[in-house]
Amino acid sequence: NKDIYILGIETSCDETAVAIVKNGREIVTNIVASQIDSHKRFGGVVPEIASRHHVEQITIVLEEAFNQSQLDWDDIDAIAVTEGPGLVGALLVGVNAAKAIAFAKGKPLIGVHHIAGHIYANRLIKEFEFPLLSLIVSGGHTELVLMKKHGQYEKIGETRDDAAGEAYDKVARMLGLPYPGGPYIDRLAKEGEAKIDFPRAWLERGSYDFSFSGLKSAVINYIHNAKQRNVEIDKADIAASFQASVVEVLTEKTYHAAQQFGVKQVIVAGGVAANKGLRTSLKKRFKTTELLVPPLHLCTDNAAMIAAAGTIKFKQGKRSDLTLNANPSLPL
Ligand code: KG4
Ligand code: ZN
Repeated sequence: NKDIYILGIETSCDETAVAIVKNGREIVTNIVASQIDSHKRFGGVVPEIASRHHVEQITIVLEEAFNQSQLDWDDIDAIAVTEGPGLVGALLVGVNAAKAIAFAKGKPLIGVHHIAGHIYANRLIKEFEFPLLSLIVSGGHTELVLMKKHGQYEKIGETRDDAAGEAYDKVARMLGLPYPGGPYIDRLAKEGEAKIDFPRAWLERGSYDFSFSGLKSAVINYIHNAKQRNVEIDKADIAASFQASVVEVLTEKTYHAAQQFGVKQVIVAGGVAANKGLRTSLKKRFKTTELLVPPLHLCTDNAAMIAAAGTIKFKQGKRSDLTLNANPSLPL
């Protein structure tokens, strides 16, 4: 059995990333060029700036991946690239780079869903056992996805409004914290006390959907009311109370879904998986079911996860052709 080396490319948002993964489980190289500093002063990702940075960075990052790996093009079995969802102009840079390489080097091309990538980041740590439940929490997604085998995804719940990371970033902004605000709230929460009673959106009985816009509004109202009455707000307490609400809902819904579907593993994926409060709460709740949480550098956007998800498609004989296009709203 020959080893499989997949080159992954990810440019869906504000990281230009290239990686090489061996047999879907072993990182050979994983290069991420972050643009966060260019977007920070705007308080969010500016699509036009993102695209331009990707164009500037992609060939540099590609070269860097090969320099670090001591592999060359002959060793690569296929090119996996994020085709969506994400910012269309950003996605296009990666997709076109991948198509150009696939054509020039005569390599198979494999389009990968960004969320499949976040899920497969966990397989770089541990082999999957099915059925498996994934909680995907990022700046653009909050989803519970059930998997009964490799490459097959069944969405059992999703957010009806804001994504968890989006709520974090918006609340952080109201508290005057830098972008992206998730990590800042996480840190601040540790210094505060969860004594403000913010709402928890459980929705209908048995629903695995989420909603964070009501919570966000409750935090805004709380801050406005305090300002009107000229009372000092305690940012740490607000952060802790907000985080307690998000974490409790995410933990409980994931736990009940895991029970209902009798899963063998629970996976947490996406940028918010880096959240200390969420990690602690899930670890406490899942005492018997195996819980996989990727290390921090694999929680946020990277290309190793795209190569890992691409490896499964490669093995299943799934290929894209040169008509592959960026799809900002690609379904999982
Ligand atoms: O997966 P990701 O890197 O990009 C998307 O695909 O969206 O996720 C970014 C999101 C941001 O909203 C960021 O604030 C959030 O993940 N995030 C966190 C933490 N670290 C990153 N949210 C809460 N706590 C954290 N420690
Ligand atoms: Zn992501």
